[in-house]
Amino acid sequence: IEHRPLYGKHVLVTAGPTHEPIDPVRYLANRSSGKQGYAIAAAAAAAGAQVTLVSGPVHLATPLGVDRVDVGSAQEMSDAVRAAMPADVAIMVAAVADWRPRDFKGEKMKKRGSAPPALILSENPDILASVAASADRPDLLIGFAAETNDVVENARKKRKSKGVDWIVANDVSGPPDDSVMGGDDNKVHLVREGKVEHWDAMTKQDVAMKLVTQIAERLTEDA
Ligand code: C5P
Repeated sequence: IEHRPLYGKHVLVTAGPTHEPIDPVRYLANRSSGKQGYAIAAAAAAAGAQVTLVSGPVHLATPLGVDRVDVGSAQEMSDAVRAAMPADVAIMVAAVADWRPRDFKGEKMKKRGSAPPALILSENPDILASVAASADRPDLLIGFAAETNDVVENARKKRKSKGVDWIVANDVSGPPDDSVMGGDDNKVHLVREGKVEHWDAMTKQDVAMKLVTQIAERLTEDA
C-alpha cells in the first residue's frame, strides 16, 4: 500500500455476526468470526483512513487506530451504521441475521410440558440495501456475499439488486467448521460492473490489503 492513500477519507466497516435474542440466555446468529472485517478495518486505518468499525459480538482485539462501536442485534447495527454516516467508503462485511425472533421473552423460557416452543421470526432490515438507497450513499459501497453455490452468478445478481458498486463473493460451501468461517484464509471473487476478478486463496489480511489497494486506486480515478 502506497503511503497513506486513504488519508482524509472516512471508511465505515461492519463486521461479525449479529445476535438476535430469543430470551435473556438464547439467541439466533450466523456463523462469523469477524476476522475478515477486522482485517479490512485494520488495513484501511494503516492506509491512513479514519475508520469506524461497527462490530457484532466477536472475540477480537480492536485494530490500532480504529473507532469501534459494539452492537448486538441487526437493528442496533443498523442504527449504529446510520449514526456513523456519512462515509466516503462503506464495506459491509457483517454476517447480519436475516431474521429475528418476533417476540423477545423477558424471562428465560422453561422446558415445561412436552412440545418444544415454536420460534416465530420477523425480517430484519437490510442494512446494506438501505445505505445504498440513502441520500448520503457513500461514493464507494462494497458488500460481501457468502455463497455455497453459483458463487459468482449470485454475487452479480446481488450487486445489482442491492445497488452496490462491488461485491466480494466468497465460497463457503463445505462443512460448517471448514476453513473460511473462523479460519485465517479466504478465497474470493471481486465482482464489479462488467468485470470479475478471481483472487487466489490467501490470508484474510492479504485479502484486506488487496481490497484496500483497489479502493485507493478507485478513489484516485474519481478524484
Ligand atoms: O443478501 P446477503 O445477506 O447475502 O447479502 C450480504 C451482504 O449484505 C453483506 O455485505 C452483508 O453485510 C449485507 N447485509 C446487511 N443487512 C442484512 C443482510 C445483509 O447489511 N440484513
